[in-house]
Amino acid sequence: MASQPLAQPSANDAHHPNPVRAPPATHTLLERLHTLSSEQESRLDLLSIPPDAFHTAVADQFVALEQDKCQFVYALLRASGARTIVEAGTSYGVSTIYLALAARQNAAALGGVARVIGTEHEAAKAAQAREYWREAGVGDVIELRVGDLRETLKNEMGSVDCLLLDIWAPMALPALKLVRPHLRPGATVICDNTIASAERYADLLAYVNSDPAFQHITVPYHKGLGLMVYYPETK
Ligand SMILES: C[S@@+](CC[C@H](N)C(=O)[O-])C[C@H]1O[C@@H](n2cnc3c(N)ncnc32)[C@H](O)[C@@H]1O
Repeated sequence: MASQPLAQPSANDAHHPNPVRAPPATHTLLERLHTLSSEQESRLDLLSIPPDAFHTAVADQFVALEQDKCQFVYALLRASGARTIVEAGTSYGVSTIYLALAARQNAAALGGVARVIGTEHEAAKAAQAREYWREAGVGDVIELRVGDLRETLKNEMGSVDCLLLDIWAPMALPALKLVRPHLRPGATVICDNTIASAERYADLLAYVNSDPAFQHITVPYHKGLGLMVYYPETK
């Protein structure tokens, strides 16, 4: 979609300007997908689902990263010039569209190649995600690895600028451990729901909070958004 002019995004409201540069049709698609996801979540109480029933209960649900968090992640990626981004948990690929837009715009501004590596266990979700990405014009930037991320993230990924953990909680630490050797100094790791799901993320939070390589702050979005900056040589 590089040949299409990017729309000046309209503000979501006067106090929450939308930072995302994208064609109008992509904004329309994102609005539609966020609305679908929110409607589904309003019928589910995700935090009341026991961990062992979670996978089956939401196998066909969006559970997309909320729009305000997606916009924050996009702005952070633009600020950090991220071009290689790994997403643990892609579902129908809503957040992935933001990652792809940011990576492509960073590559155009700074050089290099935009690359977003998504991971999704459910084949039907993966197929539909590819349709949405085609509609958004970002499919060429995204490499979707279908299967269990504990296997798919063992494969090559280059030097990683950002890891987004938007995944069932037991998978977050395995994903971080697989991607960690590829994180460049100054890379960011973002994890959704670190306040609301703190108990479920106990292993991940203990791991990053006890390791000085990770500088961890909670961004106070709904249910919390963990932001970790990775410097392996931090003293
Ligand atoms: C919260 S959703 C991701 C939402 C997505 N980031 C978005 O904003 O549209 C988490 C996804 O992780 C997938 N998932 C769970 N365990 C997985 C695993 N072991 N390997 C790959 N994907 C997995 C689920 O099928 C689900 O679609």
